[in-house]
Amino acid sequence: MNEEVEDSTEGLIEEPAKKKNNFSLLLLVIAIFIAIIGIFIFVSKKQSTEEGNTLSTEIEKTYNMEEIATHNKKEDCWLVIETYVYDITDFVSKHPGGEIILTACGTDATAKFNNRPTTGTSHSALAQKMLQSLRLGSLSE
Ligand code: HEM
Repeated sequence: MNEEVEDSTEGLIEEPAKKKNNFSLLLLVIAIFIAIIGIFIFVSKKQSTEEGNTLSTEIEKTYNMEEIATHNKKEDCWLVIETYVYDITDFVSKHPGGEIILTACGTDATAKFNNRPTTGTSHSALAQKMLQSLRLGSLSE
C-alpha cells in the first residue's frame, strides 16, 4: 500500500521536473540562436564600416594653390584635378602617356586630365582609379 502511494507521488513529481528541463533546453537553444545572430550582425557591421572608411570619411588635409605650385618638378610633383590635390611624384615615371604629365606638375591639371592634348579625350576609368590612390587632400577654398 505504502509502495503504491510512493509510486504515484513519484510520477507526479517527475512530470513538472521534465517539463522544466525541456523549457530550460528551449531557452538555451533560443539564447544560442540570438547570440549567433548577434555575432553575425556585429561582424557584418564591422566589415561595412571598415569598407566605408575611405578618404572621404576621414578628415582630409587642405592645400592652397600657392603651396601646390611649389611642387612643380619631376622629383616632387603635385597637381590639382577638380577639387582634389594629388601627389603624383611616384607615378610620373610610370605614366603610360609619357613625360607630358610633367607639364601638369604644380598646376590645376583638370583641363589636361579631362582633355588630353594629344588625343583630345579624357582618361579611362582605370586612370581615374589610379588617380584616387594618389590623393593627398583637398584644395582649400
Ligand atoms: C595624375 C594623373 C594621371 C593619371 C593617373 C594618368 C593615367 C593615364 C593612363 C592610365 C593612361 C593610359 C590610357 C588610359 O587609361 O586613359 C594615360 C595616358 C595618357 N595620359 Fe595620363 N594620366 C594622368 C595625368 C595626365 C596629364 C595631366 C596629362 C596631360 C598633360 C596626361 C596625358 C596623357 C596622354 C597624352 C596619354 C596617352 C594617350 C595615348 O596616346 O594613348 N595624363 N594616362
